[in-house]
Amino acid sequence: MEDRNLALELVRVTEAAALSCARWMGRGDAKGADQAAVDAMRRAFDGVRIRGTVVIGEGERDEAPMLYIGEKVGAGWPDHQSTNVNDKDEFAPRVDIAVDPLEGTNLCATGSPGALAVIAVAEDGKFLNAPDTYMDKIAVGAVGKGAIDITKSPTWNLNALAEAKKSKVEELTAIILERDRHQPLIAEVRKAGARIRLISDGDVSAAIATCKDIAGVDILFGIGGAPEGVLAAAALRCLGGDMQGRLKYRNDDERARAERMGVKDHNKVYAVDELAQGNVMFAATGVTEGSFLKGIRFIPNGATTQSIVMRSQSGTVRTVDAEHDFVRKPNFGWYTNQ
Ligand code: FBP
Repeated sequence: MEDRNLALELVRVTEAAALSCARWMGRGDAKGADQAAVDAMRRAFDGVRIRGTVVIGEGERDEAPMLYIGEKVGAGWPDHQSTNVNDKDEFAPRVDIAVDPLEGTNLCATGSPGALAVIAVAEDGKFLNAPDTYMDKIAVGAVGKGAIDITKSPTWNLNALAEAKKSKVEELTAIILERDRHQPLIAEVRKAGARIRLISDGDVSAAIATCKDIAGVDILFGIGGAPEGVLAAAALRCLGGDMQGRLKYRNDDERARAERMGVKDHNKVYAVDELAQGNVMFAATGVTEGSFLKGIRFIPNGATTQSIVMRSQSGTVRTVDAEHDFVRKPNFGWYTNQ
Protein backbone atom coordinates (compact mmCIF):
# COMPACT_ATOMS: atom_id res chain seq x y z
CA MET A 1 0.00 0.00 0.00
CA GLU A 2 1.43 3.43 -0.94
CA ASP A 3 0.37 4.60 2.45
CA ARG A 4 2.67 7.54 3.13
CA ASN A 5 0.94 9.82 0.71
CA LEU A 6 -2.45 8.22 1.14
CA ALA A 7 -2.45 8.94 4.87
CA LEU A 8 -2.14 12.65 4.13
CA GLU A 9 -4.86 12.45 1.47
CA LEU A 10 -7.19 11.03 4.10
CA VAL A 11 -6.95 14.21 6.12
CA ARG A 12 -8.55 16.16 3.31
CA VAL A 13 -11.49 13.78 3.50
CA THR A 14 -12.00 14.11 7.26
CA GLU A 15 -11.47 17.87 7.02
CA ALA A 16 -14.22 18.14 4.40
CA ALA A 17 -16.64 16.11 6.53
CA ALA A 18 -15.85 18.07 9.69
CA LEU A 19 -16.14 21.47 7.99
CA SER A 20 -19.47 20.54 6.55
CA CYS A 21 -21.18 19.23 9.67
CA ALA A 22 -19.63 21.94 11.88
CA ARG A 23 -22.14 24.35 10.31
CA TRP A 24 -24.84 22.31 12.05
CA MET A 25 -23.25 22.60 15.48
CA GLY A 26 -25.79 23.30 18.20
CA ARG A 27 -28.74 23.30 15.82
CA GLY A 28 -30.32 20.33 17.56
CA ASP A 29 -30.44 18.29 14.36
CA ALA A 30 -28.21 15.23 14.72
CA LYS A 31 -29.48 13.66 11.48
CA GLY A 32 -28.91 16.84 9.47
CA ALA A 33 -25.39 17.15 10.84
CA ASP A 34 -24.63 13.51 10.03
CA GLN A 35 -26.00 13.86 6.50
CA ALA A 36 -23.82 16.91 5.92
CA ALA A 37 -20.74 14.97 7.02
CA VAL A 38 -21.61 11.90 4.95
CA ASP A 39 -22.23 13.93 1.82
CA ALA A 40 -19.01 15.92 2.12
CA MET A 41 -16.95 12.83 2.92
CA ARG A 42 -18.39 10.93 -0.04
CA ARG A 43 -17.52 13.77 -2.39
CA ALA A 44 -14.05 14.19 -0.94
CA PHE A 45 -13.30 10.50 -1.58
CA ASP A 46 -13.86 11.23 -5.29
CA GLY A 47 -10.55 13.11 -5.23
CA VAL A 48 -8.49 10.28 -3.71
CA ARG A 49 -6.68 7.85 -6.00
CA ILE A 50 -7.71 4.58 -4.38
CA ARG A 51 -9.98 1.67 -5.10
CA GLY A 52 -11.65 1.62 -1.70
CA THR A 53 -14.44 -0.56 -0.35
CA VAL A 54 -16.39 0.58 2.69
CA VAL A 55 -16.40 -2.22 5.28
CA ILE A 56 -17.43 -0.16 8.31
CA GLY A 57 -19.86 2.53 7.27
CA GLU A 58 -23.24 4.09 7.66
CA GLY A 59 -25.02 0.70 7.56
CA GLU A 60 -26.32 -1.70 4.93
CA ARG A 61 -27.13 -0.40 1.44
CA ASP A 62 -30.90 -0.32 2.05
CA GLU A 63 -30.61 1.88 5.14
CA ALA A 64 -27.74 4.16 4.02
CA PRO A 65 -27.78 5.87 0.64
CA MET A 66 -24.08 6.71 0.91
CA LEU A 67 -20.99 5.22 2.49
CA TYR A 68 -22.90 1.98 3.00
CA ILE A 69 -21.08 -1.27 3.66
CA GLY A 70 -19.84 -2.61 0.35
CA GLU A 71 -19.85 0.77 -1.42
CA LYS A 72 -16.89 1.44 -3.72
CA VAL A 73 -15.21 4.80 -3.09
CA GLY A 74 -12.22 6.57 -4.60
CA ALA A 75 -11.17 7.74 -8.03
CA GLY A 76 -9.23 4.57 -8.89
CA TRP A 77 -12.20 2.41 -9.88
CA PRO A 78 -12.44 2.01 -13.69
CA ASP A 79 -16.03 3.29 -13.86
CA HIS A 80 -15.34 6.35 -11.69
CA GLN A 81 -16.41 9.74 -13.05
CA SER A 82 -13.03 11.33 -12.33
CA THR A 83 -11.94 13.87 -14.88
CA ASN A 84 -8.30 13.11 -14.13
CA VAL A 85 -7.33 10.08 -16.23
CA ASN A 86 -4.20 9.55 -14.14
CA ASP A 87 -6.37 8.65 -11.18
CA LYS A 88 -7.83 5.65 -12.90
CA ASP A 89 -5.28 2.96 -13.06
CA GLU A 90 -4.95 -0.60 -12.05
CA PHE A 91 -2.21 0.42 -9.61
CA ALA A 92 -4.47 2.60 -7.46
CA PRO A 93 -4.26 0.83 -4.09
CA ARG A 94 -7.10 -1.50 -3.21
CA VAL A 95 -8.05 -0.82 0.39
CA ASP A 96 -10.77 -1.41 2.93
CA ILE A 97 -12.24 1.70 4.47
CA ALA A 98 -13.85 2.25 7.86
CA VAL A 99 -15.66 5.55 8.23
CA ASP A 100 -17.62 7.47 10.77
CA PRO A 101 -18.22 10.80 9.01
CA LEU A 102 -19.59 12.26 12.25
CA GLU A 103 -18.70 10.31 15.39
CA GLY A 104 -20.89 11.84 18.07
CA THR A 105 -23.88 13.13 16.12
CA ASN A 106 -25.57 14.33 19.33
CA LEU A 107 -22.36 16.04 20.45
CA CYS A 108 -22.43 18.10 17.26
CA ALA A 109 -26.17 18.75 17.56
CA THR A 110 -25.69 20.12 21.08
CA GLY A 111 -22.27 21.71 20.57
CA SER A 112 -20.74 19.43 23.21
CA PRO A 113 -17.08 18.41 23.22
CA GLY A 114 -15.62 15.43 21.40
CA ALA A 115 -17.32 15.13 17.98
CA LEU A 116 -14.93 13.93 15.26
CA ALA A 117 -14.91 13.05 11.56
CA VAL A 118 -13.05 9.73 11.29
CA ILE A 119 -11.55 7.42 8.66
CA ALA A 120 -9.37 4.34 8.97
CA VAL A 121 -7.87 2.43 6.08
CA ALA A 122 -6.40 -1.08 5.94
CA GLU A 123 -5.41 -3.59 3.32
CA ASP A 124 -8.11 -5.88 1.96
CA GLY A 125 -9.80 -7.97 4.66
CA LYS A 126 -7.87 -6.65 7.64
CA PHE A 127 -10.69 -5.00 9.60
CA LEU A 128 -13.09 -7.08 11.64
CA ASN A 129 -16.37 -6.97 9.72
CA ALA A 130 -18.15 -5.68 12.78
CA PRO A 131 -21.93 -5.92 12.68
CA ASP A 132 -23.88 -2.86 13.76
CA THR A 133 -24.25 -4.10 17.31
CA TYR A 134 -22.61 -3.27 20.63
CA MET A 135 -19.13 -4.10 21.81
CA ASP A 136 -17.78 -4.26 25.36
CA LYS A 137 -14.46 -2.40 25.29
CA ILE A 138 -11.43 -1.71 27.38
CA ALA A 139 -8.66 0.59 26.13
CA VAL A 140 -5.46 2.06 27.52
CA GLY A 141 -2.44 4.02 26.32
CA ALA A 142 1.01 2.62 25.56
CA VAL A 143 2.16 2.28 29.17
CA GLY A 144 -0.72 -0.07 29.91
CA LYS A 145 -0.13 -2.27 26.86
CA GLY A 146 -0.35 -5.93 27.84
CA ALA A 147 -1.69 -5.13 31.32
CA ILE A 148 -5.43 -5.25 30.55
CA ASP A 149 -7.80 -8.21 30.44
CA ILE A 150 -11.47 -7.65 29.60
CA THR A 151 -12.40 -11.04 31.07
CA LYS A 152 -11.33 -9.76 34.49
CA SER A 153 -13.14 -7.18 36.64
CA PRO A 154 -12.74 -3.39 36.32
CA THR A 155 -11.07 -3.44 39.77
CA TRP A 156 -8.52 -6.00 38.59
CA ASN A 157 -7.79 -3.90 35.48
CA LEU A 158 -7.44 -0.67 37.47
CA ASN A 159 -4.93 -2.33 39.80
CA ALA A 160 -2.99 -3.77 36.86
CA LEU A 161 -2.89 -0.39 35.14
CA ALA A 162 -1.84 1.40 38.33
CA GLU A 163 1.02 -1.05 38.67
CA ALA A 164 2.07 -0.59 35.02
CA LYS A 165 1.95 3.20 35.46
CA LYS A 166 3.68 3.06 38.84
CA SER A 167 0.81 5.09 40.25
CA LYS A 168 -2.18 4.53 42.50
CA VAL A 169 -5.70 3.57 41.45
CA GLU A 170 -6.85 6.86 43.06
CA GLU A 171 -4.70 8.73 40.54
CA LEU A 172 -6.23 7.01 37.49
CA THR A 173 -9.14 8.45 35.52
CA ALA A 174 -11.56 6.10 33.79
CA ILE A 175 -13.69 7.38 30.92
CA ILE A 176 -17.12 5.78 30.61
CA LEU A 177 -20.23 6.44 28.50
CA GLU A 178 -23.00 7.62 30.81
CA ARG A 179 -25.62 4.94 30.23
CA ASP A 180 -27.99 3.03 32.51
CA ARG A 181 -26.31 -0.21 31.46
CA HIS A 182 -23.09 1.12 33.00
CA GLN A 183 -24.45 1.72 36.52
CA PRO A 184 -22.80 -1.42 37.99
CA LEU A 185 -19.54 -0.59 36.18
CA ILE A 186 -19.54 2.99 37.45
CA ALA A 187 -20.31 1.81 40.99
CA GLU A 188 -17.41 -0.65 40.89
CA VAL A 189 -14.92 1.90 39.53
CA ARG A 190 -15.98 4.36 42.24
CA LYS A 191 -15.58 1.67 44.89
CA ALA A 192 -12.10 0.87 43.57
CA GLY A 193 -11.23 4.52 44.15
CA ALA A 194 -10.48 5.72 40.60
CA ARG A 195 -11.67 9.05 39.25
CA ILE A 196 -14.27 8.95 36.47
CA ARG A 197 -15.05 11.14 33.49
CA LEU A 198 -18.57 10.40 32.30
CA ILE A 199 -19.29 11.28 28.69
CA SER A 200 -22.60 11.49 26.89
CA ASP A 201 -21.27 10.12 23.58
CA GLY A 202 -18.13 9.52 21.55
CA ASP A 203 -16.17 6.49 22.64
CA VAL A 204 -13.77 6.61 19.66
CA SER A 205 -12.50 9.93 20.93
CA ALA A 206 -12.49 8.50 24.47
CA ALA A 207 -10.34 5.51 23.43
CA ILE A 208 -7.84 7.78 21.68
CA ALA A 209 -7.77 10.05 24.74
CA THR A 210 -6.24 7.20 26.80
CA CYS A 211 -3.13 7.52 24.58
CA LYS A 212 -2.88 11.30 24.85
CA ASP A 213 -1.38 12.74 28.04
CA ILE A 214 -3.00 16.08 27.34
CA ALA A 215 -6.45 14.49 27.56
CA GLY A 216 -5.94 13.34 31.16
CA VAL A 217 -7.66 9.95 30.99
CA ASP A 218 -6.09 6.56 31.58
CA ILE A 219 -8.59 3.85 30.73
CA LEU A 220 -11.81 3.41 28.79
CA PHE A 221 -14.39 0.93 30.06
CA GLY A 222 -17.81 0.00 28.82
CA ILE A 223 -20.17 -0.92 26.03
CA GLY A 224 -20.48 1.18 22.88
CA GLY A 225 -20.92 0.60 19.16
CA ALA A 226 -18.98 -2.30 17.57
CA PRO A 227 -18.11 -0.31 14.39
CA GLU A 228 -16.70 2.42 16.66
CA GLY A 229 -14.66 -0.31 18.35
CA VAL A 230 -12.92 -1.16 15.07
CA LEU A 231 -12.19 2.52 14.37
CA ALA A 232 -10.80 3.00 17.88
CA ALA A 233 -8.62 -0.10 17.47
CA ALA A 234 -7.16 1.29 14.23
CA ALA A 235 -6.25 4.49 16.07
CA LEU A 236 -4.76 2.64 19.04
CA ARG A 237 -2.67 0.42 16.74
CA CYS A 238 -1.06 3.63 15.42
CA LEU A 239 -0.65 5.17 18.87
CA GLY A 240 0.81 2.04 20.49
CA GLY A 241 -2.09 1.70 22.91
CA ASP A 242 -4.00 -1.44 23.78
CA MET A 243 -7.62 -2.45 23.49
CA GLN A 244 -9.84 -5.50 23.73
CA GLY A 245 -13.43 -5.90 22.56
CA ARG A 246 -16.20 -8.46 22.87
CA LEU A 247 -19.41 -8.29 20.81
CA LYS A 248 -22.62 -7.73 22.75
CA TYR A 249 -26.01 -8.31 21.18
CA ARG A 250 -29.27 -6.59 21.99
CA ASN A 251 -31.38 -9.37 20.43
CA ASP A 252 -31.38 -12.55 18.33
CA ASP A 253 -31.56 -10.57 15.07
CA GLU A 254 -28.23 -8.94 15.86
CA ARG A 255 -26.74 -12.30 16.75
CA ALA A 256 -27.95 -13.77 13.44
CA ARG A 257 -26.59 -10.77 11.56
CA ALA A 258 -23.20 -11.24 13.18
CA GLU A 259 -23.23 -14.89 12.11
CA ARG A 260 -23.99 -13.85 8.54
CA MET A 261 -20.98 -11.53 8.71
CA GLY A 262 -18.76 -14.45 9.68
CA VAL A 263 -18.73 -14.30 13.49
CA LYS A 264 -18.50 -17.87 14.81
CA ASP A 265 -17.59 -17.47 18.48
CA HIS A 266 -19.95 -14.97 20.11
CA ASN A 267 -17.87 -14.71 23.26
CA LYS A 268 -14.56 -14.16 21.53
CA VAL A 269 -12.30 -11.50 22.98
CA TYR A 270 -10.81 -9.54 20.08
CA ALA A 271 -7.36 -8.11 20.67
CA VAL A 272 -6.51 -4.71 19.22
CA ASP A 273 -4.67 -6.32 16.30
CA GLU A 274 -7.58 -8.63 15.55
CA LEU A 275 -10.01 -5.72 15.37
CA ALA A 276 -7.65 -3.90 12.96
CA GLN A 277 -4.87 -6.06 11.49
CA GLY A 278 -1.85 -5.31 9.32
CA ASN A 279 -0.82 -1.82 8.27
CA VAL A 280 -3.52 0.65 9.13
CA MET A 281 -3.89 4.38 8.69
CA PHE A 282 -6.13 6.64 10.67
CA ALA A 283 -7.25 10.24 10.27
CA ALA A 284 -9.63 12.31 12.38
CA THR A 285 -10.61 15.98 12.33
CA GLY A 286 -12.18 17.71 15.33
CA VAL A 287 -15.72 18.97 14.78
CA THR A 288 -16.44 20.34 18.26
CA GLU A 289 -13.73 21.19 20.79
CA GLY A 290 -12.19 18.08 22.26
CA SER A 291 -9.63 16.96 24.80
CA PHE A 292 -6.91 16.42 22.18
CA LEU A 293 -8.22 18.18 19.04
CA LYS A 294 -9.62 21.65 18.55
CA GLY A 295 -12.99 21.97 16.89
CA ILE A 296 -13.76 23.83 13.69
CA ARG A 297 -13.51 27.61 13.99
CA PHE A 298 -14.99 29.81 11.29
CA ILE A 299 -12.94 32.90 10.45
CA PRO A 300 -13.57 35.62 7.88
CA ASN A 301 -13.88 33.85 4.50
CA GLY A 302 -12.72 30.54 5.83
CA ALA A 303 -12.23 28.17 8.72
CA THR A 304 -9.50 26.42 10.68
CA THR A 305 -9.31 22.69 11.27
CA GLN A 306 -7.17 20.49 13.47
CA SER A 307 -6.64 16.83 12.64
CA ILE A 308 -4.49 13.86 13.53
CA VAL A 309 -3.17 11.50 10.91
CA MET A 310 -1.14 8.43 11.69
CA ARG A 311 0.11 5.11 10.38
CA SER A 312 0.65 1.93 12.36
CA GLN A 313 3.70 0.91 10.33
CA SER A 314 5.80 3.96 11.15
CA GLY A 315 4.05 5.06 14.35
CA THR A 316 4.27 8.65 13.14
CA VAL A 317 1.49 10.77 14.60
CA ARG A 318 0.95 14.10 12.89
CA THR A 319 -1.21 16.91 14.10
CA VAL A 320 -2.33 18.91 11.10
CA ASP A 321 -3.50 22.49 11.60
CA ALA A 322 -5.06 23.93 8.47
CA GLU A 323 -6.56 27.22 7.38
CA HIS A 324 -9.13 26.93 4.62
CA ASP A 325 -9.92 29.80 2.28
CA PHE A 326 -13.51 29.61 1.10
CA VAL A 327 -12.94 32.32 -1.49
CA ARG A 328 -10.42 30.21 -3.33
CA LYS A 329 -12.07 26.87 -2.45
CA PRO A 330 -15.76 27.81 -2.43
CA ASN A 331 -17.13 24.25 -2.41
CA PHE A 332 -14.78 22.67 0.09
CA GLY A 333 -16.62 21.10 2.96
CA TRP A 334 -19.98 22.50 1.95
CA TYR A 335 -23.08 20.41 2.16
CA THR A 336 -25.48 20.95 -0.67
CA ASN A 337 -28.44 18.73 -1.16
CA GLN A 338 -28.44 19.03 -4.96
P1 FBP B 1 -23.28 8.33 16.83
O1 FBP B 1 -22.24 9.28 16.36
O2 FBP B 1 -23.64 7.33 15.77
O3 FBP B 1 -24.44 9.05 17.40
O4 FBP B 1 -22.60 7.43 18.00
C1 FBP B 1 -22.19 8.03 19.18
C2 FBP B 1 -21.87 6.98 20.22
O5 FBP B 1 -21.77 7.62 21.49
C3 FBP B 1 -20.58 6.19 19.98
O6 FBP B 1 -19.42 6.89 20.27
C4 FBP B 1 -20.81 4.99 20.86
O7 FBP B 1 -20.00 3.89 20.48
C5 FBP B 1 -22.28 4.73 20.68
O8 FBP B 1 -22.86 5.98 20.30
C6 FBP B 1 -22.96 4.21 21.91
O9 FBP B 1 -24.25 3.80 21.58
P2 FBP B 1 -25.53 4.15 22.46
O10 FBP B 1 -25.81 5.62 22.32
O11 FBP B 1 -26.62 3.31 21.87
O12 FBP B 1 -25.23 3.78 23.87
